[in-house]
Amino acid sequence: MGKALGASVYAASTDRQNPDPNLVTRQVNDMKVSFLLNGEAVEVNTSPTQTLLDWLRIERGLTGTKEGCNEGDCGACSVIVTDQASKRALNACILFMPQLHGKAVRTVEGISGHNGQLHPVQQAMVDHHGSQCGFCTPGFIASMAAGHANGRTDHDDVVAGNLCRCTGYAPIIRAADAAENAPVPTWMTEPTPPTGPAPFAPETLYALAAWYAANPDATVIAGATDVGLWVTKQLRELDSVVFLNRCADLQKTSVTDDTITFGAGVTMQDVHQTLRDHHPSYAEMVRRYGSEQVRGAATIGGNIANGSPIGDNPPALIALGATLHLRHDQVERSIPIEDFFIAYGKQDRAKGELVTGVTLPKSAPALRVYKLSKRFDQDISAVCGAFNVTVTDGIVAEARIAFGGMAGTPHRAPAVEGALTGQPWTNATIIAAAAKFADDYTPMSDMRASASYRQEVAANMLHRYFAELAGEAVNVLEVQP
Ligand SMILES: Cc1cc2nc3c(=O)[nH]c(=O)nc-3n(C[C@H](O)[C@H](O)[C@H](O)COP(=O)(O)OP(=O)(O)OC[C@H]3O[C@@H](n4cnc5c(N)ncnc54)[C@H](O)[C@@H]3O)c2cc1C
Ligand code: FES
Ligand code: FES
Repeated sequence: MGKALGASVYAASTDRQNPDPNLVTRQVNDMKVSFLLNGEAVEVNTSPTQTLLDWLRIERGLTGTKEGCNEGDCGACSVIVTDQASKRALNACILFMPQLHGKAVRTVEGISGHNGQLHPVQQAMVDHHGSQCGFCTPGFIASMAAGHANGRTDHDDVVAGNLCRCTGYAPIIRAADAAENAPVPTWMTEPTPPTGPAPFAPETLYALAAWYAANPDATVIAGATDVGLWVTKQLRELDSVVFLNRCADLQKTSVTDDTITFGAGVTMQDVHQTLRDHHPSYAEMVRRYGSEQVRGAATIGGNIANGSPIGDNPPALIALGATLHLRHDQVERSIPIEDFFIAYGKQDRAKGELVTGVTLPKSAPALRVYKLSKRFDQDISAVCGAFNVTVTDGIVAEARIAFGGMAGTPHRAPAVEGALTGQPWTNATIIAAAAKFADDYTPMSDMRASASYRQEVAANMLHRYFAELAGEAVNVLEVQP
């Protein structure tokens, strides 16, 4: 408790005409958050960076929710969070208390009924021997119960963010299958959560942008899947914070005849839903982005703004020629997203300026996005390559190729693109162009991959792209020996 006591946080100004920044900064030790916990209304005094997991276990004595990694990787801390739009499993270890305001939280203690009746997924786990030591089980139950409530049958994806060291996944998946058609218990229906503005999370972009411009040293917190780890792993104290999760203006997705625009606060789970209809290859990459719990919290804006050289959205967005939208106070601007990433740790974003959204073409049939990581699920990319090549009458008219994990920033491959453009779309052209990756990138060696492996993989991805557009099976899950 109290990691950031004394820090200043945003206090709501609903007055659009007078969002006086100096009047909306205040001390945090009286921060109040209201939400439902297992169906009961609670009001909690909290600091901005207290995690739900710490609060549940230390202050509430609800120790059913477990701490494994404390960094979003194992799912032992999974809980169900319901708001007006959705019911999702999230990792409590990297969820800050203020993110829960006005929502409903259900822990494993609230997934069974008041009289000890088991939820169908709990009964199925018993029947199918889905638990041995039991440490992971509450997290699995939370993920499975959220999936069950949402009518999900893709159980591998639903539990991909939950690690089990001893039972093995087959009995767990059998249990999820068995519970699929059981009705959702009535006790899982959430009453209406408490409402009211949160004193640390502006609800309009107008107010948010004004406050941030006046408090440019504040830490913007969107999904907290990066920022959460600064607190739980680096033990950083954040002096001043503002939360984006109540800013409805940032959470909109709009689809026109030609374009898709994601607000910066759209979660990767919702990005995935939209992409499935328009950019299936990009969507398939996002299916492997973190886990269900990570995608339910992480935002597309956070993934761009963090400037990571291994973020998975930027290569795809650069290959699509996407436009990034930014706002400083009331001044808006838009730039090609490829210009945003200037150097490692340096982006074209002024102090106090927000990323507000990104616009991409609605259609790009030739787009393919390849994520290479050590594990199929729940792993950061070693290399992520995105290819968008237009071939007209057998000749390459335009090539947009971008990579993450190959340099200090995600960026295009101009030498490879140059070797393709104007050439016949043939294997000989691909072989010649693949040799140019060394001109475009000087990757580093790290724990994920060596520099030479990265170079080889990038060239192989170009070959894969050529084969895939020719109709060959290239996915490792499709290719049979
Ligand atoms: C277990 C795990 C797995 C992960 N797997 C992947 C993966 O497969 N692929 C991948 O790319 N990433 C992955 N990540 C990293 C992370 O989830 C993503 O980068 C995510 O999209 C960050 O979004 P967020 O909303 O959580 O950002 P936050 O953590 O809230 O913020 C990240 C940074 O961006 C800033 N920021 C956020 N929003 C804005 C805004 N609108 N304007 C200005 N600044 C802003 C914050 O101040 C902070 O500096 C993973 C993380 C975890 C914990
Ligand atoms: S404790 Fe491992 S994901 Fe939260
Ligand atoms: S039952 Fe032991 S870790 Fe899953």
